[in-house]
Amino acid sequence: MSVNSGRRSFLKVAVGSSAIAVAGNASQSQRLQVAVVGTGGRGSDLIRKLTTFRDVEIVGVCDNYPPHLEHGIEYSGGAKGYENFSQMLEDAKPQVVVIATPLHLHEEMAVEAIDFGAHLYCEKILAFTVEAAKRIVDAANKKGTILQVGLQKRSNPIYEQAVSMVQTGMLGEITAIKCQWHRNHSWRRPLPVEKRHPDWERLDRHLNWRLYRETSQGLMAELGSHQMDVCNRILGTPPKRVLATGGTDFWRDGREVCDNVFCVYEYDQQNSEGKPYTVRVTYSSLQNNAYEGASELVMGTQGTLFLTSKKGLFYREETGEEVVIDASSGGDTGAVMVTSGKTLGLKNDPWAHRGKPLEIDSESDETRDALYSFIRKVQNEDRKTICDGAVGLENTATVLMANQAIDTGGGIDYPI
Ligand SMILES: NC(=O)c1ccc[n+]([C@@H]2O[C@H](COP(=O)([O-])OP(=O)(O)OC[C@H]3O[C@@H](n4cnc5c(N)ncnc54)[C@H](O)[C@@H]3O)[C@@H](O)[C@H]2O)c1
Repeated sequence: MSVNSGRRSFLKVAVGSSAIAVAGNASQSQRLQVAVVGTGGRGSDLIRKLTTFRDVEIVGVCDNYPPHLEHGIEYSGGAKGYENFSQMLEDAKPQVVVIATPLHLHEEMAVEAIDFGAHLYCEKILAFTVEAAKRIVDAANKKGTILQVGLQKRSNPIYEQAVSMVQTGMLGEITAIKCQWHRNHSWRRPLPVEKRHPDWERLDRHLNWRLYRETSQGLMAELGSHQMDVCNRILGTPPKRVLATGGTDFWRDGREVCDNVFCVYEYDQQNSEGKPYTVRVTYSSLQNNAYEGASELVMGTQGTLFLTSKKGLFYREETGEEVVIDASSGGDTGAVMVTSGKTLGLKNDPWAHRGKPLEIDSESDETRDALYSFIRKVQNEDRKTICDGAVGLENTATVLMANQAIDTGGGIDYPI
């Protein structure tokens, strides 16, 4: 990671993946025995990253869709394949289980893995409901399981840096955050059979699980979870309330989840004098316009952070110049407004305040770093993972309260 600024000394330099050595020459018997369930898109990616750690041995991969299982076996370098999760546990006896199955299956598999005695890396969000997430966390606490949830922005140096900049006061008082994840993609996966095929519906539900309410919590769980986790970290607390709306307005293809969501979250904060105030976070996710992509904009009285997973930009505010009282003109670029006998020159040009940003770069692989951190925690028998059960539970409640608000058309208070 590099921080390009004359103010470098002010910043805490976080550790990127380039600084993390791949674990050493572990002998076969010392290698951590890992099994992965769900070898679709995410599971395949996790398997490929796990194979880059020399002290990890993939002892089993499991998927009940044969083409995906074949990929899992191939990417793992020939690990034994299973179509049944319980059978894999019994036969492969893994020390660690990685869950990358559809959301509605997380609870059942997580609790089974915990009861079996394995440590657990579970993809986000932790579970389909808050109650299910609690059951996973309770089971893990009872058993002493080391648990990490796959919110991998927690291992990204850009976000580490952002949290540190907010905590050291570089942005002043945080006043608002704007997040979005906008794509122009239907999410629908092509099926290997024609629509009139008798197996079409079953395969569609299986491969397009994200589109149906029985199996998916939609955009907030799949995308918003990462960004709301960033907001909760930056603001140091879960939200107190959310207002939200959304619908299935563009992709009228039989799906049941929203294809666009718009939320306003409210967070309790205290200013530097200890006075309470509210920060509002807007979150939107679209599946029909990719112009703004995925990013978070953290706004404070002293500066603004624009964050993406590969780059952060910090713009200092021109303190005191936000509204210029100018009797003679409207300022260089903005509107002119007369009030109380004085002329205000408002700089409405969005570029006028920006100046040259301070850049934060990272070449790190956040997912690989998240797995690496988890493997180290297991080796060191340390339950304080970078995204433990408490964080996973808070994140689950934070995103599901927005879905509830969309469904009920009202505001929802935390915790749900
Ligand atoms: N952290 C991230 O950035 C990230 C990115 C993508 C997906 N995910 C998460 O990973 C999980 C999987 O998502 P995906 O995109 O890989 O989905 P996917 O559909 O590509 O893969 C899921 C796999 O699970 C398999 N499966 C379903 N039921 C099963 C069962 N009973 N036993 C064994 N295997 C079964 C399916 O056949 C499929 O291969 C989800 O929780 C998702 O939110 C996380």
